[in-house]
Amino acid sequence: MHSIGIIGGTGYTGKKLIQYLTLHPFIKDFQIYAKTTAGENLHEIFPDLDGYVDNLQIKSIEDISYEHDLYFIALPHGEALKYVPILTSKDKYVIDLGGDYRLDFEELYIQWYKYTHTSPYLLKEKVYGLADHPSTNYTEIKLISNPGCYPTAVLLSLLPIIPDFSDKIISVSCIAYSGTSGAGKSSRADLLLSEMYGNVKAYNINDHKHEPEILQQLYKNGFHSPFSFTPHLLPSARGIYTTSSIHLSEEIKKENIEEIYKSVYQSPFIRLRNNPPELQWVIDSNFCDISISLKGKVLIVTAAIDNLVKGASGQAVQNMNKLFGWDETSGILPARRKELKYVSVHS
Ligand SMILES: NC(=O)c1ccc[n+]([C@@H]2O[C@H](COP(=O)([O-])OP(=O)(O)OC[C@H]3O[C@@H](n4cnc5c(N)ncnc54)[C@H](OP(=O)(O)O)[C@@H]3O)[C@@H](O)[C@H]2O)c1
Repeated sequence: MHSIGIIGGTGYTGKKLIQYLTLHPFIKDFQIYAKTTAGENLHEIFPDLDGYVDNLQIKSIEDISYEHDLYFIALPHGEALKYVPILTSKDKYVIDLGGDYRLDFEELYIQWYKYTHTSPYLLKEKVYGLADHPSTNYTEIKLISNPGCYPTAVLLSLLPIIPDFSDKIISVSCIAYSGTSGAGKSSRADLLLSEMYGNVKAYNINDHKHEPEILQQLYKNGFHSPFSFTPHLLPSARGIYTTSSIHLSEEIKKENIEEIYKSVYQSPFIRLRNNPPELQWVIDSNFCDISISLKGKVLIVTAAIDNLVKGASGQAVQNMNKLFGWDETSGILPARRKELKYVSVHS
C-alpha cells in the first residue's frame, strides 16, 4: 500500500486526483498540499466531496512531507520546477501534470513557456507518459511528465498511422476544441460565463504551448510533414475534441487503417468508433473515443476526451498504475472491458 502527496490538490485536476485516489485499492492514504488554501479543510473547498472523502486539512506546500511514495504535481506552469528536482533527488516517484518537463529541450521550454528551466537534466530523464500508447516505457523511471490535454487527444488519434504512412502524408491540419476548465480554476475575464455562453472562438493560433509538444512526439515517430494546430474554446466546462484532416499523396484502404488502430491499441481506455464521437460519451471518464473516415486521399480522424480525466488526472493515475505494475484501470474504472472492437452507433 502506498502513500501519495498531491501538490496543488485544490485545483480542478487536483480534485479529480482526490476522487480517484480515494477509490484506489492500493493507496493507503494521501495528503493535499496547496498555498492560498493551506489550513482549510477539504469539505470547505469541495463541499460535494463530503461523505465520499475524509475532511482532510490542506497542508501548506512549505511543510511538505517527504514520507510519501509518489507525488502528483498539479501546479501552474513554472511552479513544478521548485519541487520536482528535490523530490527526484530524494528518490521519490513524481508525476507532473503540468508542462514543465514535457518538452525535451531547454531552449524550447524557454521559447514556449517563457521561464528559465532550473533542472534541464530532468528533461531527458523523464518519460512522456502517454499512457495508452504502447511506446511508453515505464522501466527504471522516477519522473513521468503527464501529457497535455490537447496533445493526449491529438497524439492518440494520429500516432498509429505515422510509422506506416508518414511518407504518404502531405500535410495534417488539426482543428481542436476545449472546454473552459482547460485553463484551471483561476479567474479570467475571457472565460466568464457571460463571455463564453453561446460563443466559440479560436485562440493562440500558431502560438499554443501544446503545438511543440505534439510535434515533438510526432517527429519521434517519423512524421515529417507540415502540421497546423488551431485550438478553439467551447461554451462548455469540460472536454477536448479534435478533428485532424490528413492529406495523402495516394489512396489507402480504410480496412488497413482500422487494422492498424486495432493492433496498436490494447488499452481498455481506447474506444474505436464507427461514427464521430461526441463529448458527452467521454465526459468524466478516462476513455478516448476515436473514429476515422476516409474519402479518396483525405483521412479524417476525430477524437474526444475529458480534459480533466484522460487529459490530466485519469491518465496520471493510469500512469501511476503502470509505473507500479498494477492493473492500469485501478481506481479509475470499476470493471475491465473484455476486448477492443469497433462499436457502431445508430442515430
Ligand atoms: N485543467 C486542465 O484541463 C488541465 C489538463 C491537463 C493538464 N493541466 C495542468 O495541470 C496543472 C494544474 O491544472 P489545474 O487546472 O488543476 O489548475 P488550477 O485549477 O488552477 O489549480 C492549481 C492548484 O495549484 C495551487 N497553486 C497555485 N499556485 C501555487 C503555488 N505558487 N504554490 C503552491 N500551490 C499553488 C492551487 O492551490 P491554492 O490556490 O489553494 O494555493 C491549486 O491547488 C497545470 O499545470 C495545468 O496546465 C490542466
